Amino acid sequence: MTIQIENISKFYGKQKAVDSLHIELNSGELVGFLGPNGAGKSTLMKIITGFLAADEGRVIINGEEVSPDNHRIRQQVGYLPEHNPLYTDLYIKEYLQLTAGMYRLPNKKQQADRVIEMTGLGPEQHKKIGALSKGYRQRVGLAQALIHDPAILILDEPTTGLDPNQLEDIRALIKNISREKTVLFSTHIMQEVEAICNRVIIINKGKLIADNPVENLKSGKLFSAQQVLIEFADSINREKLTASLGISNIEQLSATSLLVQAPSDEDIRPALFRYAVDNKLTILTLNEQQTSLENIFHKLTRN
Ligand SMILES: Nc1ncnc2c1ncn2[C@@H]1O[C@H](COP(=O)(O)OP(=O)(O)OP(=O)(O)O)[C@@H](O)[C@H]1O
Ligand SMILES: [Mg+2]
Repeated sequence: MTIQIENISKFYGKQKAVDSLHIELNSGELVGFLGPNGAGKSTLMKIITGFLAADEGRVIINGEEVSPDNHRIRQQVGYLPEHNPLYTDLYIKEYLQLTAGMYRLPNKKQQADRVIEMTGLGPEQHKKIGALSKGYRQRVGLAQALIHDPAILILDEPTTGLDPNQLEDIRALIKNISREKTVLFSTHIMQEVEAICNRVIIINKGKLIADNPVENLKSGKLFSAQQVLIEFADSINREKLTASLGISNIEQLSATSLLVQAPSDEDIRPALFRYAVDNKLTILTLNEQQTSLENIFHKLTRN
């Protein structure tokens, strides 16, 4: 199922929290949603789920416009809000059956059991929500988002505050779910996006600053500047190499090693190799550097 976010803007007073965003999300996509604190991620998610009205633009899901009173659309969307508000006085089963009731599902008990199984809540299911640890509360939040088997899942920081084991479980669960659904989830953990997503969207100050396949980001294609680490057996003269290759962006890392940044999107390794052969130099390392998502994130959001 597709989500079309068309020119969405949202103001809080004079502040433009979301600024003319255009994004289209498709079935089977698992999209990591990144941005510094206050970038507007939660605001956009509330608008997509119909909890908040936009000031400009519209969100179309399956051909229909989202609005706070369009309940047909809400049937298609599962939402885990940022602070995961839950009824702490209820037992897990009670709460999930209540949620199933709100969606008017016919077989509330079976649906609750299904999502309890899916989210690994089985061992804790006799407890009240208030007695659960953070990770298990997060699972309850996911379970309520999944109770009506929605085609779209909007998860606002589903993995915040989880221990490494819980993290792994929840990530695997999200990845698994995403096979048949459209999933947008926000996070501050870049490795998470790298590990499970096929697409990454980055916003800053309400504006879209990157929307790419994760592969593109990692290989640095976004900046079309390949970086190559080269190490020679003997010391190397940076100026001579610079002049010979016509590349100005070469950083000397040690007497024998350099970090070379390509001036365009062509592969500079053959030229480096030819330079070594022509000058009778022995190359020990010739390595294309992967740009980490963290670096990209800093570059994109720090100014
Ligand atoms: N109810 C509100 N009233 C006034 N300003 C708000 C309100 N909600 C959010 N904002 C402001 O809008 C901006 C975007 O907030 P939002 O919560 O969407 O950011 P975020 O990307 O989710 O940040 P975080 O990573 O910290 O969760 C922030 O500057 C925030 O202070
Ligand atoms: Mg937020």
